[in-house]
Amino acid sequence: MEKIIINGGKPLHGEIEISGAKNAALAIIPAAILSQDVCVIENLPVSISDVSYMMKILKHIGAKVKLLSKNSIEIDSRHVDSYIISNDMTKHLRASYYFIGALLGRYGRAKVAMPGGCYLGTRPIDQHIKGFELLGATVSVEDNAIVDARADELIGSPVYLDVVSVGATVNILLAAVKARGLTVIENAAKEPHIVDLANFLNSMGADVRGAGTDVIKVRGVEHLHGCTYSIIPDQIEAGTYMVAAAATQGDVLIKNVIPKHLESISTKLIECGANVEEFDDAVRVSLSGRPGKCNIKTMPHPGFPTDMQPQMAVLLALADGTSIISESIWTNRFRYTEQLNRMGANIKADGQLAVVQGVEQLKGAPVRADDLRAGAAMLIAGLAAKGTTEIEDILHIDRGYEDVVQKLRGAGADIKRVFCPDANTLTSAG
Ligand code: EPZ
Repeated sequence: MEKIIINGGKPLHGEIEISGAKNAALAIIPAAILSQDVCVIENLPVSISDVSYMMKILKHIGAKVKLLSKNSIEIDSRHVDSYIISNDMTKHLRASYYFIGALLGRYGRAKVAMPGGCYLGTRPIDQHIKGFELLGATVSVEDNAIVDARADELIGSPVYLDVVSVGATVNILLAAVKARGLTVIENAAKEPHIVDLANFLNSMGADVRGAGTDVIKVRGVEHLHGCTYSIIPDQIEAGTYMVAAAATQGDVLIKNVIPKHLESISTKLIECGANVEEFDDAVRVSLSGRPGKCNIKTMPHPGFPTDMQPQMAVLLALADGTSIISESIWTNRFRYTEQLNRMGANIKADGQLAVVQGVEQLKGAPVRADDLRAGAAMLIAGLAAKGTTEIEDILHIDRGYEDVVQKLRGAGADIKRVFCPDANTLTSAG
């Protein structure tokens, strides 16, 4: 068992470099098998565990994966020879279900166990299944555990999504790129990682237009080829460090970002009194004095991202005044508030609404990372709090934040990772 220990209360200063986007990587890795060729993926956050699990699945179905450097891999999918992925492979992460779309697109057949991932409330996949069926696949879910999809031929079709879903948009795109004819996805998700996936598919020879708007048109092609592709910077990792800079009343230059992707986050930080300076591929965030309050409503892109909601709650927990957070994507994304309240925050969450009464100071405490972004919130709270914070269940943080301890140390944080053979003996693990 490992923990992260933070001696907080020190403003962050300096520079932090952002890694490639997790949620783009998780869509692009399975997409590579559609090429039946060799793809090189650059700016990949190789060391986060979600990416490691996706690479394991690739190897399991027969692809060859070679590490070329710290952040680039080669995927040779010429010898993929299986369309079956069992629960021990899929249970670690949500994005494992992108192999349904990718295998359907490649073979017309996929038998993939239901995915795992963060518990954020119910996470149905009805829109994915509807999309596959509209493209001509027959889909059954055996024992509520294994999705079995098959199609003699996939044929392009209009697909209207009842809800704006990132996952369904990705999965339908993957199934549609080699289908015969035109697929039109309406009410599609517009997140930056959808655009990145479309750009990757087009680099392999696909014909995808309109990604980034709510109508995506895919004209099926017979053949895709290998390519070299560099993943966009991670919007949420960048946002997390932006909030950390503000919550510690620090001053940090966050490098390797696309400022346009950060606008909804920058706007809220500015509303709370932070200074946000934009450069071509960097943002500088600083705050002196106590943050001001603001209200937040999470929305699909370009609205305020749900994946930044827990982190922003930490800043609001320290604000002068009362803020309201309204979570409109997930039904259960306020579990972390219980942990923040252990650190002296005053947050009352009820259903999809939280009322945050700002306090002057948080105090260090033993806390838990309930899920990935909850873990990010604990990190920010620990950095801002007076005293020592010990974060347990950090495997959730490892799912999405590359080199998080090193990056924060580089910006002056007193933070370490420790290995705990048992709860009473803490040994340094670097
Ligand atoms: C993606 O999840 C992200 N994960 C999540 O990030 C993120 O919170 C979410 O999009 C929203 O932005 C990945 O990209 C791997 P959705 P996803 O399908 O695709 C409902 C993180 O921390 N819905 O856009 O699973 C659903 O219940 C993770 O990095 C249906 O009703 O989210 C939700 O209310 C956590 N039927 C809404 O749509 C469906 O078939 C949006 O979900 C699919 C979804």
